[in-house]
Amino acid sequence: MANAPTAEEFEKLGAFWLGRTQSPTGEETDELLLYDSKDLTTHALCVGMTGSGKTGLCLGLLEEAAIDGIPAIVIDPKGDIGNLLLQFPNLQPSEFRPWVDAGEAARKGRTPDEHATKTAELWRKGLASWGQGPDRIKRLQDSAEFAIYTPGSDAGIPLQVLRSFAAPPPALLDDADAFRDRVASSVSGLLALLGINADPVRDREHILLSSILSHHWRDGRDLDLPGLIHAIQTPPFQRIGVMDLEAVYPAKDRFGLSMALNNLLASPGFAPWMEGEPLDISRLLWTAEGTPRISIISIAHLSESERMFIVTIVLNELIAWMRSQSGTSSLRALLYMDEVFGYFPPVANPPSKKPMLTLLKQARAYGVGCVLATQNPVDLDYKGLSNCGTWFLGRLQTERD
Ligand SMILES: Nc1ncnc2c1ncn2[C@@H]1O[C@H](COP(=O)(O)OP(=O)(O)O)[C@@H](O)[C@H]1O
Ligand SMILES: [Mg+2]
Repeated sequence: MANAPTAEEFEKLGAFWLGRTQSPTGEETDELLLYDSKDLTTHALCVGMTGSGKTGLCLGLLEEAAIDGIPAIVIDPKGDIGNLLLQFPNLQPSEFRPWVDAGEAARKGRTPDEHATKTAELWRKGLASWGQGPDRIKRLQDSAEFAIYTPGSDAGIPLQVLRSFAAPPPALLDDADAFRDRVASSVSGLLALLGINADPVRDREHILLSSILSHHWRDGRDLDLPGLIHAIQTPPFQRIGVMDLEAVYPAKDRFGLSMALNNLLASPGFAPWMEGEPLDISRLLWTAEGTPRISIISIAHLSESERMFIVTIVLNELIAWMRSQSGTSSLRALLYMDEVFGYFPPVANPPSKKPMLTLLKQARAYGVGCVLATQNPVDLDYKGLSNCGTWFLGRLQTERD
């Protein structure tokens, strides 16, 4: 068996310990596989078929980052990342016992207590063979705070997402391109939530809402959903481009759009969206005392359009936050998105695509590293792929992949 690494080797600041290297013939060596955290500022992509270990590897990466004091926002479309909170610091059977699946224990011919004991033993031995003991788990626990957010539900911490119609920070208002992107993708996200797939340039729903948001935000004024509903009926302008508003989008048609938003607002399922902690990136990344946080935004329970809405909004907020920071060449924070399929596709243009591309192109300057996991490289837009400096490759399914 390989020698256990020393604590100094593990804990070298700026190096994430991912395992041990293999020889060209596939045997494990004694050499630690250390990943330079700086390399994550040029982002990482993790591809491999289901079961190839993508989520496992990325959880390892997040844990190493946390130990190094690097916070993360994690978007979890499948609900697999919550396991990060199962840390069992003493590796004692009593810590495993509440999580034992009685059915699984029975299938193995064990009582739940026996199964907890066996599982604790398995973990202890498994971790020890990699030179890790309870002290390192404790270290992880002491390094960061872990939280699971569940927008639209109070199963975890509810997240109040409609703050995104609040005016963006001044740094973003001053940048014309960034401002336009922010308006366009906020509107696309909202329309996605209404089940309307509108084109930013051609479709009048998009054009009207964009005009309303721009109008308010340019003056630094916030807008909430009731305000938006009102503004659709009585916009603060009479023209769109050079055309008369009534000719482009008559009042009776605008009423239809405002009703759709109103129905959303009034539906019982919508109340949780308005409650909870405000979506504030710096709060997701650090506690008030400055302790790094790993904030998991779990969206598995949501409908497809709701997921798209949340992802778009989180990415937009991250961009806005990032632009308000000073530049840096070291890694400051991570965005990890598991199973990114459908959010950053090569041909289609969902609302999440633009902010994702912006992040991959610009986040580096602010020390924000993106880690994306998916099953096939062809799931992702090549303009984004070419911005990923690290590729973690698992088993792939086809030659083309
Ligand atoms: N490096 C590894 N060594 C051994 N088993 C692993 C490793 N990484 C993951 N696994 C196991 O393989 C299974 C699938 O891993 P997972 O990370 O969920 O794959 P994916 O996200 O690619 O579908 C899990 O049961 C996990 O515990
Ligand atoms: Mg996975």
